[in-house]
Formats: sequence, C-alpha cells, structure tokens
Amino acid sequence: MSKNFQYKNQTLFCENVNLAEWAAEKKTPLYLYSAAELKDNLNTVNNIGRPYTFLPCYALKANYNPHLLEIIQKHNFGADVVSGGELIFALKAGFKAQQIVFAGVGKTEEELELAVKKGIASINVESESEINLLSHVAGRLKKRTAVAIRVNPDIDASTHEYISTGKKVNKFGVEPEKALQLYKKLKKDEWLTPEGIHVHIGSQITDKTPFERTAHVIENFVKQLEKEEISISNIDLGGGIGINYEDDFSDPHKPSTYIRHILPAYLQAFGQMDKRFTVELGRSVIGSAGILITRVIYRKESADKIFIIVDAAMNNLIRPSLYQAYHHIVPLIKKDAPTEVVDVVGPVCETGDFLAKDRQLPRLEEGDLIAVVGAGAYGQSLSSNYNLRPRIGEYLVEGDQLRTIAKEQSIEEIYNQYG
Ligand code: LLP
Repeated sequence: MSKNFQYKNQTLFCENVNLAEWAAEKKTPLYLYSAAELKDNLNTVNNIGRPYTFLPCYALKANYNPHLLEIIQKHNFGADVVSGGELIFALKAGFKAQQIVFAGVGKTEEELELAVKKGIASINVESESEINLLSHVAGRLKKRTAVAIRVNPDIDASTHEYISTGKKVNKFGVEPEKALQLYKKLKKDEWLTPEGIHVHIGSQITDKTPFERTAHVIENFVKQLEKEEISISNIDLGGGIGINYEDDFSDPHKPSTYIRHILPAYLQAFGQMDKRFTVELGRSVIGSAGILITRVIYRKESADKIFIIVDAAMNNLIRPSLYQAYHHIVPLIKKDAPTEVVDVVGPVCETGDFLAKDRQLPRLEEGDLIAVVGAGAYGQSLSSNYNLRPRIGEYLVEGDQLRTIAKEQSIEEIYNQYG
C-alpha cells in the first residue's frame, strides 16, 4: 500500500512527483496527500464490505479538507459527523443525508435540529437527556427520526488512555443495562424510531481481539433486545482501526493501514446476523495518505542533547505532544551520513513541543527537508494558531499532478477575525 510513497534514486516520491525537487521551492511546513493511497484505502474497505449490507462512513474529524471529502464521497462512502459544522461540510461535499450518521455526547439543540431537518440516516444518542431533547425537537418539527443508542461495552481497546472510549469509566455511550431501558422508552416514543445500535471503543487499535470481544457484547445485547421484542436493523460498528506509524517507506509490501487485518475479522465476528452494518473509519482511510513536510531551521547541540529545530511545531501536529505518539521521520533525500540520537522539536514555546524524542536519525543539516509520516489523520484537523502560527498549506498529488487544496492562512486573516 505504501507503494504510493517510495524512494527512487535516494529521493522520496509521492506517486510520480519528486518531493525533494518540488518542496525545495515551497514554503514549509506543509501537508501533502496522495490521492492514490487514499483511493487504495477506500477501495480496500469497499471490497471487504461487499458480502454484507454495508455502509462505510468516513469520520470527518480525522481530516475535513473538502477536496479529500469529495474523493471519499465519490467512492460511495457515507459520513460520520460529530458537530453541526461537520454535518454542513459533509452535505456540501455531496454526501447524501441518508448516508450520514451523527455521534457525540454533547449535541446542542441547534445541532439536533439541523440533523432532524436534513433527515440524516441516524442520530447516535449517548444519554437519556439527549433522547429527551431529541424527541422534543423531532416533535416540534413533526419529523420521524431514526436513532441508535451508543452502547458502552466496557472493553479495553489497549490504546492510549485519551483515545480509549469503550470502557465504563469513559464518558461515551450508555452501559448495556441502561441502554435496554432506553430502547424500551424509545419504542414508545412518538417521534423517534430505534433503528440501530452504535458502538465505538477507541482509536489507533492495531489488534483485532478488542473488536471481536465488542462484537460478542453487541451480539448478546441484540439478543436481549429481541427478547423484549425490539428489533433493530442496523449495527454501527464505529471506527478505530490503526495505521502503521513506523512505516519508513522502504518496503512497498508493508501495510500502511490495518484495515485488511482487522475489518474482515470484525465483520465476521458478527457471524450470521442478518443486519445492515455501518463503519465509521477515519485514521485507517486518510492517515497513511498524508505526510507533513518540514525544514530544519537550526541544529543546536547542548552538553546532553542534539536538537533538530524544524519549522513545524505542535500547533501543526499535536499528536506527539498530546499522546506521546510515534511518527516515523524520513529525509526527503536519503542520506548516507552516520546516525545520531536527536530530539526533533518545533519553534513553539513549550517543552512539550516536539515531533520526535531520542530518535536515531541520519545527521541532519540546516535546510534539510524531512517528512513526518502518517500525518493524514488528526494532523491539520487538530491544528491551532498557538503562538500566532498560521495554519499551513495542503497539497494533493494525483499521479504526476500536484495541486493546492488549502491555502496557508495569513496573519492578516487571523487578525481580521477580531473585527
Ligand atoms: N466514530 C467515533 C464515534 C469516534 O469517536 C471516532 C474517533 C471515530 C469514529 C473515528 O475513529 P478512527 O477510525 O479515526 O480511529 N485525535 C486522536 C484520535 C481521536 C479519535 C476520536 N474519535 C489521535 O490523533 O490519535
């Protein structure tokens, strides 16, 4: 899969574009995406889903660039949104309302109203209070609305604690006993139809076992519902499939995403259940398609450390700072120089501003360009203007073509927001 990023004659290419040559002239840092990698991931999901009644949805939170959304939508994906803003972006990108699901513990009345008016496929509710408000909104608008309850299966996804969502102590979903009561309540509701069940246990999961255990919990829960003569037609399995952040682009056969390893097992774990399945994939679809290109500004050697100070920072890619996440770093031009242990850090005034710590890298010089891999998901979408650093440009490669898909922000634009 990572055939879309490969070295040719010591130089990193994205598809047919020589990145070192191109980026030498560009303002860095910048995000760059491979359309072929994205399409490979989308096609892989579609192929795996073929034997099932299956709606793959894309989780916009991973990356909501409209140009990428357009490609995803054209591959017959639906959308998974978590805010009114994402719902509007999804509709603008051409996703059909009937293929949009809406999750989140804190949907406001305004957001619920928008979702009800648009008639989306499912509002995935996460509490009794939300059901009460939604019923009120749907009644006021006189619109029957399809809902699913997000069930918290109390399963440890063995991932970073900030991105684990399926344990009892997490704020997400409703425990099965309580969910059963809520389904009974929904059955009597004049405006809400309980069409589905929703579950999502966390993100960057690279082992199929937690998914199989989740399937087991949900299967038992569906049986319990059926005993109460509540029949649901759709199971939303959530997302959370991980990617390979250690990819160094040296082997085109190494998986860049774990879709193939996990999604078939997850679907099979539901056995013979005659249901429609929805998935909500973010990272596993877009993560491996993006890299962050940054330039070395300074080398700084202190008594104990070598710092490689680059022009990208935690405001551009916060994952290392926030989750101690590992992203492989490769030079755009391969180096034969001996390796050394360095910290790759940004210009932001925080000790937590780093892209890599104690990393063995070939000696980097000022002006060298490097790529931070696996930056397509939760990169630009989690970025900020901290230290008044503008949002950076985004570029898309398609074969030998390369185009701008997001202009970099200017300080003027930011200034003008203040009226
Ligand atoms: N569905 C729901 C209900 C979710 O909460 C999420 C992610 C997804 C689907 C998509 O998950 P994915 O397939 O991308 O793993 N910022 C963190 C990840 C946060 C994930 C939040 N929810 C990171 O950079 O690792």
